[in-house]
Amino acid sequence: MRLTPARLINGKLRMPGDKSISHRAALIAALSSERSDISNFSTARDCASTVACLRQLGISIEHLGDKLIVAGNEKLITPSEPLDCGNSGSTLRILTGVLAGHELNAELVGDESLSSRPMKRIIEPLELMGAKIEATGGKAPLRVRGSEKLNPITYKLPVASAQVKSAILFAGLNARGRTTVIETTQSRDHTERLFNGFGVPVTANADLSVTLDGPARFSGGAITVPGDVSSAAYFVAAAMLLPESELAIERVGLNATRAAFLSVLSSWGANISTTDVQTNRNEPYGTINVRGGIARVPNEAERTLSRSMIPSLIDELPLLAVVGSQISGGIRIRDAGELRHKESDRLAATALNLRAMGAEVEEFEDGLQVFGPAKLRGAQIDSHGDHRIAMAFSIAALIANGETEIDGAECVAISFPEFFELLHSVAAK
Ligand code: S3P
Repeated sequence: MRLTPARLINGKLRMPGDKSISHRAALIAALSSERSDISNFSTARDCASTVACLRQLGISIEHLGDKLIVAGNEKLITPSEPLDCGNSGSTLRILTGVLAGHELNAELVGDESLSSRPMKRIIEPLELMGAKIEATGGKAPLRVRGSEKLNPITYKLPVASAQVKSAILFAGLNARGRTTVIETTQSRDHTERLFNGFGVPVTANADLSVTLDGPARFSGGAITVPGDVSSAAYFVAAAMLLPESELAIERVGLNATRAAFLSVLSSWGANISTTDVQTNRNEPYGTINVRGGIARVPNEAERTLSRSMIPSLIDELPLLAVVGSQISGGIRIRDAGELRHKESDRLAATALNLRAMGAEVEEFEDGLQVFGPAKLRGAQIDSHGDHRIAMAFSIAALIANGETEIDGAECVAISFPEFFELLHSVAAK
């Protein structure tokens, strides 16, 4: 994909449904006793992987426009073929938690990137609950033998991960007694909100533990998935970086465990407001308004992203590194070693591509120092087959001098197939 600089971003947009919420809504609907209608279901390829796996497990799912109609079934069947999770860590990890609580055997496979990502983090707690899981060196393919009589556990997460937390909570639905997951840092809480929204009480405690009493069953129903705030992030950043921009993104998710990048960008001088805030099934959503320009010089503390801030910014960090290259004094990211275990090594990929565009970057084991402000120049960008790298550097291309070529840009379809079309619709030359 070839991209040239833009003058400004102008318009009103809506994002396709949130990827994280769509995965969870599909899984909950599949396990509920009634029919569910999921409107604005994500168009991401990752969510299509979840739907395909659920069909193989005996769930009837129909697509009607942007709506998914799921005929729930509390029992899943042993699939005749391996379940292909594609590139999707959420599908593989959370579905393994679901399968752990069902009397069946299943094999879960993924693409090359997913097969290189760490899975011990889910295998350990799910085996403690009584599931049997075989892996090769702690990685996919995974062979799962589930049981309807799991043991409840109290488990402290060694890494902050919403996928692991969710896998344990889904398994906890078929455990007899109280399952408790303790986090050291709050990760995204969609699973907790949607369980509560679909009739399974999950208590979030002040000490960052969440508890669920099993066995428990979901009630089905209707949900409208808010627009994906992680997809919106690219447009928000572009509008901030191009001074004459004016952009509104409507009906987009505003869950605080996901939307933290908005306050980070505001602290760096962006002019952002949120309006029309409402909720659906416990998930807040509303309009994000952005006026272009960087209105202030942030201090060092504001330019440092670390510790407990990291999980709620995790998918936006490559983009924030790109924006950071335009901030006076630059920015620093620490305690983000998890980025090396995403769809690509996102610290290495971000550093490499920022340097290719002329920015100065120092790479640490757990983060990056990006020096700024830097004048970026168009370059050849390697997406590493990673959708978030491809999109973050498409935004860099809009503010660079000259033309940028993004190799492997089609990978944006993993989370956001409409990305380039929407970008062209609001970017003026
Ligand atoms: C996700 C959780 C995060 C995030 C991923 C989606 C989820 O992963 O990076 O894109 O839907 O729960 P971790 O749980 O591994 O941090």
